[in-house]
Amino acid sequence: MSKRDFLALTDLSTPELYALLNRAIELKDLWRKGGRTTPLAGKTLAMIFEKASTRTRVSFEVGMFQLGGHALMISTATSQLGRGETIEDTAKVLSGYVDGIMIRTFEHSKVEELARHATIPIINGLTDFNHPCQLLADLMTAVEVFGAARLKDLKVAWIGDGNNMAHSWMIAAKMLGFELRIACPEAYMPNAELVARLKGEARIEILHDAAAAAEGAHIVTTDVWASMGQEAEQQARAAVFAPFIVNAEVMGRAASDAIFLHCLPAHRGEEVSAEVIDGPQSVVFQEAENRLHAQKALMEMLMGGRVLR
Ligand code: CP
Ligand code: NVA
Repeated sequence: MSKRDFLALTDLSTPELYALLNRAIELKDLWRKGGRTTPLAGKTLAMIFEKASTRTRVSFEVGMFQLGGHALMISTATSQLGRGETIEDTAKVLSGYVDGIMIRTFEHSKVEELARHATIPIINGLTDFNHPCQLLADLMTAVEVFGAARLKDLKVAWIGDGNNMAHSWMIAAKMLGFELRIACPEAYMPNAELVARLKGEARIEILHDAAAAAEGAHIVTTDVWASMGQEAEQQARAAVFAPFIVNAEVMGRAASDAIFLHCLPAHRGEEVSAEVIDGPQSVVFQEAENRLHAQKALMEMLMGGRVLR
C-alpha cells in the first residue's frame, strides 16, 4: 500500500476525520486510565523545525513515546538543511532512516516537495498556509464539548488575521459543513485562491466586524496578529487589528454555551483580553492537551497502519 501524508485536513476523507476525532478521544481516555497501546514500537519520527514551537514539538515527541516509538528533532541550524542540502536529498536520506517526518516551515510548497520525494508519511506541523494538526485538536475539543453530532450545525467565529489558522478553519468548514464567519481587517483577508476555491462548497462568510461575526457563535476563536516570520510587522499590524480583539463584549454576542479557542501562544491584551482567555468559557488548555492525543491518532493511522472507520 502506498504511503499517505497529512499536509492538509483534506488528506483525510470526512468519515476518516470523524473516526480520527473519535479515536483521539479514546486514546486520551485510555492514557488517563493508565492503559497503554504501543503500535509504533520500534518506529521513529523525525521532526524538522524551521520555526519555533512549544506544543507541536512536545506533543509529537511525547506522542511517539506514548505509542512505543521514538522522535528526534532536526533543526535547520544544526543540520545540513541550514547549509543548503536540498529538500529532495533530505527526503531520500531520511526515508532510509525513519518511519515518518513532521515538518514545520514557511512555504507550503516545501512540505509538498518533501512529500513528493519521501517514501514515508509526511505530516505538516504548520506552514505559512495552514496548520492542520491544530485543527485536529480544535475539532476534538469541539466534539468533547458539543458532541460529534452537533459539529455540522455549529457556528464558528474566526476573528483576526486571515492567516494559516484561518485557512485551516475554512478547510474544516468545507469538510464538516459548519458555518464559519471570519472577521478580519480588509487588508488581511484569507488567501484569495482558497476563498475562491471554497465558494459554493462551504458556508463561509467574510466580514470586517468582530462583534457581528461572534453573533450567536458556538465557538469563538482567534490567533496572534503577527505570525512567525512576520515579527517586523508587529507594530503596524497592532494598529490595524486593534478593533479585532476578542474581549468580554465580543464573547457576550456569542451563544450562551459558547467556548473560546486559541491555538496558542497568545498575547493577552492584543488579540484576546485576559478576562476571556482566562475566563470560564475558555478551553484553551484542554485544546492544547488535545494536540497530543489527536496526533497520536494521526500517527497510529499514518505510521502504524490503523484503518480509521
Ligand atoms: N499551537 C502551536 O502550534 O503551538 P507551538 O507553536 O508552540 O507549536
Ligand atoms: N499563526 C501562528 C500560529 C502559531 C501556532 C503562526 O503561524 O505563527
